[in-house]
Amino acid sequence: MMEKNQWHPVALSQAVTDAPVPVRLLDEDLVLWRDAQGAAQAFVDRCPHRGARLSLGRVQGGQLECPYHGWQFASSGQCVKVPAVPAFTPPPQHCVKSFGVQEAHGLIWVQLEAAEVPLPVFEAEDDARLRKVNCGPYDVQASAPRIIENFLDMSHFGFVHEGWLGSRDATEMAPYQVENTACGVKATNCKAVQPMSNLHSTKPAEVHYTYEVTAPFAALLTKIPEAGSSKDGWREAIGLFICPVSPTTSRVWFRLAVADFESSDEQLQAFQHTIFTQDQPVLESQQPKALPLDPRAELHSAADRMSSAYRRYLKASGVTFGVC
Ligand code: FES
Ligand code: CO
Repeated sequence: MMEKNQWHPVALSQAVTDAPVPVRLLDEDLVLWRDAQGAAQAFVDRCPHRGARLSLGRVQGGQLECPYHGWQFASSGQCVKVPAVPAFTPPPQHCVKSFGVQEAHGLIWVQLEAAEVPLPVFEAEDDARLRKVNCGPYDVQASAPRIIENFLDMSHFGFVHEGWLGSRDATEMAPYQVENTACGVKATNCKAVQPMSNLHSTKPAEVHYTYEVTAPFAALLTKIPEAGSSKDGWREAIGLFICPVSPTTSRVWFRLAVADFESSDEQLQAFQHTIFTQDQPVLESQQPKALPLDPRAELHSAADRMSSAYRRYLKASGVTFGVC
């Protein structure tokens, strides 16, 4: 499964402190914890001794301790202590399966099978002028690709986000362009008149932006300021990073990179929350839960060019999780 080679977000960095945390990724139960150096670790959440859940245990002296018989595991996964037999030195095969871990964008990322695959790109992260805030997690009863496709979809604004990102009086979509990129697909020249495009909106504004798919379950929205305006050169962005928990359930985060320095984190999160909770019931209603990759399985209009490109990209990439 190619998805196992990809990096997936599994938790907010700040959610993993001194106690083990259970998470689920691609239908596998994992335990996250921090070692003595503060490095995040991800193991199978099943003790190799008698199968207890390691996430019920604790972190003791920089090792993960099983809740059942107190076996301790180092960050390599190696068992280093069997309390019932203190003189025993566990051999190398006494170990628990561990996975690749990285921290970026305020999140912990896990790769289930080692491969030379980069994290999904998010250029706005490196723009020191922009403020970064995470929103989520949202636990959603929908497949990861359905959620990505919803994020890329502009023709629902006037209906799902009426009075916020669109209105029923202006539902016609201007043509936009779609191209393939090195890591996914990109829609440029997207335009929408939005009654309430952000927290500070006082009147409708035309917003120009691009959408990019940067990995099977990661997407970006970048706002393109008007040339010559005071915001020329700024690239505010929203990253959508999804953990594919099961083929029909997902955990979702947004990473905002914004030029708003007045609002509190809570205010920025509340705006995003309002928008996403408008999407959520519709997303959770979609059937089938898996995203159909056969173009004949659902109907399309010219406005769906980006969603069709995303489906072709998933198919060409060999994605099988959450698609049909
Ligand atoms: Fe984990 Fe026995 S089941 S130490
Ligand atoms: Co929406």
